[in-house]
Amino acid sequence: MSPIDPRRLALAALCEPDPERKAQAALDLFAGVRQALAIPEAECTASSLGGQAPADVTLAPGWRDTDWRPAAQQGAPLPGRPTLPRLVPAKDVPSRSPFTLEGRAALLHAICHIEFNAINLALDAVWRFPGMPEAFYVDWLRVAAEEACHFRMLRAHLATLGCAYGDCLAHDGLWTMCARTADDIVARMALVPRTLEARGLDATPLIQDKLTRAGDARAVEILNVILRDEVGHVAIGNRWYHHLCQARGLDAVALYPQLVQRHEAPRLRPPFNTAARLAAGFTEAELAYLAGDE
Ligand SMILES: [Fe+2]
Ligand SMILES: [Fe+2]
Repeated sequence: MSPIDPRRLALAALCEPDPERKAQAALDLFAGVRQALAIPEAECTASSLGGQAPADVTLAPGWRDTDWRPAAQQGAPLPGRPTLPRLVPAKDVPSRSPFTLEGRAALLHAICHIEFNAINLALDAVWRFPGMPEAFYVDWLRVAAEEACHFRMLRAHLATLGCAYGDCLAHDGLWTMCARTADDIVARMALVPRTLEARGLDATPLIQDKLTRAGDARAVEILNVILRDEVGHVAIGNRWYHHLCQARGLDAVALYPQLVQRHEAPRLRPPFNTAARLAAGFTEAELAYLAGDE
């Protein structure tokens, strides 16, 4: 059994265009790292446990330090994704009523697409940024595995509504922010998990309310799992944003609005899911900024 390089494998999974193979690769990769580092099952969520790893797997020496960016530039454009869904500007993705079957399928397709993208975002954090502590990579590999599980649950539920992933139009907003922060790990942590994923914390209860009224109990149940896991993803974003700010002598609260402006991140609007945001580690000062009382 030769040692595995988890960051090189994260890049390979990111390049994989087939959604099912990508999801399995993310789950297997986390299982391999968990096995190699003897991370107990108790420290994982059910969503991150679907992968397979050989019993005697080990990690390649120096795996945290390789700069894979030159290798990635030689390959196909990132991320690997299927030819469908067709990507269009966000304004061209029609919003439909969740109270028709087609509309509900379109809503869940949009969330399924977010989860597919979220696998890519987590894998990108792993391969792109060398020299971080081991815990950084373990955190983002766990996120990738959880996103793979979210994607699969939604895709399976979509099938019961007569819809396949790829059937509806979609937009590429999440990857766009990933690309804009490709050279700045502080901005990446600030704007992808702590802004875009955190927006999911705010939006999910409202969507669940609509799905409850539309009578889709299974979708509500899936979103409960997603919301639980996403609090953890945003917490991971907060953990590493604050870690990096502290290490570099940056004021995390003052820097955030500057990063929003520099990278044209969306300015978030209420209502905010304050309980979930506090559980994910946002401070009162950060919540006050969001509420507009700067
Ligand atoms: Fe997710
Ligand atoms: Fe997430």
